[in-house]
Amino acid sequence: MIQFLLNNTPISYQMERPDLTVLDYLREYRYLRGTKEGCASGDCGACTAVLVEQGEHGLEYRNFNSCITFLGSLHGKQLITVEHLKDNDRLHPVQQAMVDQHGSQCGFCTPGFVMSLFSLYKTSQTGQITNHEENIREYLSGNLCRCTGYFPIVRAAEQSLADPGPDQFNNASREVSDILAKIDDLSESEPTNFHAPTGVRELARLRNDRPNARLLAGGTDLALEVTQQHRDLHEIIYLGRVQELRAFNRTETRIEIGAMVTLDRLDIELGDDFPELRALLKRFGSRQIRNLGTVGGNIANASPIADITPVLIAMNATCVLESFEGQREIPLENYFHGYRQTEIRDNEFIRCVNIPVPANNMHLKICKISKRLDDDISAVCLAALINVEDGKTIHIRMAFGGMAAIPKRAIHCEKTLLDQPLEPRVIEQAKAALDRDFQPISDVRASATYRMDVAKNLLDRICLELSGNSPVTRIDQL
Ligand SMILES: Cc1cc2nc3c(=O)[nH]c(=O)nc-3n(C[C@H](O)[C@H](O)[C@H](O)COP(=O)(O)OP(=O)(O)OC[C@H]3O[C@@H](n4cnc5c(N)ncnc54)[C@H](O)[C@@H]3O)c2cc1C
Ligand code: FES
Ligand code: FES
Repeated sequence: MIQFLLNNTPISYQMERPDLTVLDYLREYRYLRGTKEGCASGDCGACTAVLVEQGEHGLEYRNFNSCITFLGSLHGKQLITVEHLKDNDRLHPVQQAMVDQHGSQCGFCTPGFVMSLFSLYKTSQTGQITNHEENIREYLSGNLCRCTGYFPIVRAAEQSLADPGPDQFNNASREVSDILAKIDDLSESEPTNFHAPTGVRELARLRNDRPNARLLAGGTDLALEVTQQHRDLHEIIYLGRVQELRAFNRTETRIEIGAMVTLDRLDIELGDDFPELRALLKRFGSRQIRNLGTVGGNIANASPIADITPVLIAMNATCVLESFEGQREIPLENYFHGYRQTEIRDNEFIRCVNIPVPANNMHLKICKISKRLDDDISAVCLAALINVEDGKTIHIRMAFGGMAAIPKRAIHCEKTLLDQPLEPRVIEQAKAALDRDFQPISDVRASATYRMDVAKNLLDRICLELSGNSPVTRIDQL
């Protein structure tokens, strides 16, 4: 029996279908139809609702796509829907701002926008976000509007953020925290096909006993099997309550990133030190996706166009796989065997990745090429950890997404650059070496020729940037 707060109502729900989405639950079981369905694939934001969880400094409010989130992952949390924003007869400041600024025409996208604005409003109350257009755009990048246009909606955000004073949710926060704290762990004594272990040992045992159950992290890949491919997932093991998997530890020499660290948290933890990782993460899906999607999910999904895996490979990460029998640690680049074929065994899960802390003189260069700047999957993604001293490349590890059936290192290219001066002749040879490293495919995102041309141009770009007097080469810096 899962337990959560639906707005102010405590819910206990016996999971009959472990793959029931939050959106279907809201619309079909609770008749809360303010939350809309557009694409059912996490792209349009019409289904946006807000998840509330206890964080370090109080309740945290995160917008998410209810169409690709399974209901069971709400256990122990509060779910806020658009029906709950009004305080008696008074609109919430974000709703009032949408009215004042004429932020809605047909209205289909409006509840989703309102919920994203609401999570922005609540986050700005914590001081983590300022009334800056960049923040506003980033929060709205996962919501599509086809008729109003974005200016009125951005103005509505600015209006509501001008003075994000306390609302009814601040008044109720202590009570909500108390209710959430009292929700027990899911009991394994009841027969269920939705499991939510709280520790790695319990997870390892479940994984061992139930090899056919699917592991669920943020669900931003897994749920598409249900909503797009119409598959049934008969048994799910949810990883979100396993504390050890949420660990983020840093020593002088090593960064340990738990598999359940979300992409948003990755940005918070590492973004200051690695600005190009931050820039990549800002373009990783949308805020809704980054709020739930995880590092472990990005690796385990084994997509050749995943964005985090090339970065981790370039940083020489290792991957810790755990089972009931113990742990083994392998270089991440060896995790991928072939298209969607990986090293992981049926009874294992990814516990964490470890990255050696790069020396201060290393540059982490990352370039993502996609058809759209925001909320789009890469055609090609390049990541390189590189050190150039006195004009000579003395360290380089370079990996690409989108260039092969797996995220893969550019070994020949690396060899061509290593210990050589970073000058046009060598760069041309390194570009030619990419032809030996990769035979990219053509698909809906890009042709093979385009991919190879882009990869070579990206190599040019990072060499130009490393030369020290580069012009602006990034579209998001123009
Ligand atoms: C709209 C949209 C935009 C997206 N944009 C991007 C993008 O820009 N870049 C990008 O790289 N990806 C993108 N994605 C894909 C997805 O968000 C990422 O791959 C994300 O990191 C997946 O993490 P998750 O926690 O949601 O994984 P889940 O969906 O929960 O899991 C994915 C797979 O990994 C397995 N798994 C999860 N955790 C573990 C573990 N610890 N051990 C073993 N197996 C595990 C699951 O069983 C499942 O098979 C996008 C997806 C959507 C829907
Ligand atoms: S319905 Fe489009 S993102 Fe959920
Ligand atoms: S108001 Fe019509 S889609 Fe946005």
